[in-house]
Amino acid sequence: MLKVALVGAGGMGRVHAKAYSQMEEAELVAVCDIDPEAAKKCADEYKIPAYTDFGEMIGNVDVDVVDICTPTYAHLECVKAAAEAGKHVACEKPLARTVSQAKEAVQVCEDAGVKLFVAHVLRWFPEYRSIKEHVAAGAIGDAVEVRTTRSGSHPNSPDSWYCDYSKSGGVVLDLIVHDFDWLRWCFGNVKRVYARGLYESKIPITDYALVTLRFENGVIAHVEGGWARPSGFITSAEVAGTKGLLNYSNADSVPLVIDKKAVEEDRPSITIPENPANESPYYKELRHFINCLESGETPEVTPEDGIEAVRIAEAALKSISSGQSVVLG
Ligand SMILES: NC(=O)c1ccc[n+]([C@@H]2O[C@H](COP(=O)([O-])OP(=O)(O)OC[C@H]3O[C@@H](n4cnc5c(N)ncnc54)[C@H](O)[C@@H]3O)[C@@H](O)[C@H]2O)c1
Repeated sequence: MLKVALVGAGGMGRVHAKAYSQMEEAELVAVCDIDPEAAKKCADEYKIPAYTDFGEMIGNVDVDVVDICTPTYAHLECVKAAAEAGKHVACEKPLARTVSQAKEAVQVCEDAGVKLFVAHVLRWFPEYRSIKEHVAAGAIGDAVEVRTTRSGSHPNSPDSWYCDYSKSGGVVLDLIVHDFDWLRWCFGNVKRVYARGLYESKIPITDYALVTLRFENGVIAHVEGGWARPSGFITSAEVAGTKGLLNYSNADSVPLVIDKKAVEEDRPSITIPENPANESPYYKELRHFINCLESGETPEVTPEDGIEAVRIAEAALKSISSGQSVVLG
């Protein structure tokens, strides 16, 4: 059984802690947060020691894996500290605030000979995985055009790191990076990025972006993200192909509908409702990494995937600032 130390016990840290507490293959053995109250709250819940200093924790507790759930701007320093201590690393998305930080995080893990997993959780949401599988199996012919939406209320108060663009990349980096990774997983590399949004507009605790991606295979995707709703959270994905349409919305009671175009020799038009099981995607992604560490297999999300998702987000932010499209090399 692998021993895991959690770094950052805020919103996502608590989600990860719960996932490990339910896992047979791993044990949460310590928690570190620079906020003593946050560390203590998590430590008390799981009956593990609390630390406010990473070095002290690593010096005192036997650990195999460090799970990083700190704010985005602090990912690199925590990845570095974990890798230099010889520990495998699971890091919340996005891998880092900038592409150069993301590359450094990957390099430091390579140099230390430790595995790095970026927690791009959409791949473990059954509806998103199912869309990818149906597209790959040709259920809608060749994919042509995609629309995704991810929209909720702002994650935090005005003095939060989420409101400081030097620390968070707003909705583009800290929200729809989910969709960027999923889209790359489905359709391959992105050639060109154009985006409009509220980045740098200084509207308090609000953000919005609409990002257009052109993939190397010709697919075009419109990716919408918002932190402007008073409450609730909506997600949707629609893939149009040469032979039909795949459609998912979390507002629907039936999670996934395949609506195929009528073809003469085929049945008129079919709708295939699917009802994916509701095991936590966060549990599944972390168990996947732990299982890969045990078996030596390569995790589904590679360090390179982590860099590329940040690269798309960085290009989108650049496009919003400049008003120009950005070509990815
Ligand atoms: N996968 C998802 O669905 C999802 C959802 C929300 C957030 N996230 C990501 O998770 C990360 C954390 O977001 P959050 O909402 O949990 O943030 P948060 O502000 O709720 O929690 C961050 C915690 O990290 C602590 N911290 C800050 N710097 C630290 C350091 N150097 N060492 C140790 N602890 C430190 C803070 O005190 C705080 O308790 C972000 O990168 C965010 O983009 C992912």
